[in-house]
Amino acid sequence: MIIGRDLKRIYGKGPVQVLALNCVSLEIKKGEFVGIMGASGSGKSTLLHMLGLLDRPTSGSISIDGIDVGTLNERERTLFRLRRLGYVFQDYALVPELNARENVYLPSMVRGMTPNECTMVCSEILDLVGLKGRSHHLPGEMSGGEQQRVAIARALVNKPTILLADEPCANLDSQNSRIILDLFKKLNGDLRQTIIMVSHEEWHKTYFDRIIYMKDGLVEKK
Ligand SMILES: Nc1ncnc2c1ncn2[C@@H]1O[C@H](COP(=O)(O)OP(=O)(O)OP(=O)(O)O)[C@@H](O)[C@H]1O
Ligand SMILES: [Mg+2]
Repeated sequence: MIIGRDLKRIYGKGPVQVLALNCVSLEIKKGEFVGIMGASGSGKSTLLHMLGLLDRPTSGSISIDGIDVGTLNERERTLFRLRRLGYVFQDYALVPELNARENVYLPSMVRGMTPNECTMVCSEILDLVGLKGRSHHLPGEMSGGEQQRVAIARALVNKPTILLADEPCANLDSQNSRIILDLFKKLNGDLRQTIIMVSHEEWHKTYFDRIIYMKDGLVEKK
């Protein structure tokens, strides 16, 4: 269970301040597949960053599975992210010098998997996202959609209990989007993984259990 209370995030100082989140409260149950929708600039990525412990709110609190994550120090937050959270970023955030498989490796290696285990798990997950045969390609040698799928494989490799995905299908055609969404839905069902996914696409709505609509830094009441 994720509980956010009165979350505010103000970027910048003085006259250039932006109130990106303006007192957002929400609850997301374990195993929910939640969509976050809303216009560009409404605060969707900002909210995801807060819930994913990638940034701290200016004020307000977040509790995940009974832990008030605001009280954790940086090391504890890092371990929390590593053990429980998976991310797909809007801009992929792949390491350009590493090939597809090595990029997917990273979080498993940090968790102490042996190289053999890593190779096996990574090949499996790359197959699942439709990238068989691309293991040795560098990000610069792949299309935007392929890079996005590497980022998705990396997010899934540790089977996180909570997956945070920021427009994971933004650069995919509808066929590949469907492959990813079906995979998310399956993981959500099989592993009771909580998934929080930002999307602009109307047709994605059928995959979500619930939709949180954002407008001007607030959750819109519908
Ligand atoms: N690092 C930052 N510094 C200053 N302002 C920021 C920063 N990041 C985001 N903002 C501002 O905060 C507001 C919310 O941004 P956010 O990225 O959360 O929007 P979004 O809903 O994800 O938009 P999009 O659909 O375009 O990705 C916007 O007005 C944006 O310009
Ligand atoms: Mg965004």
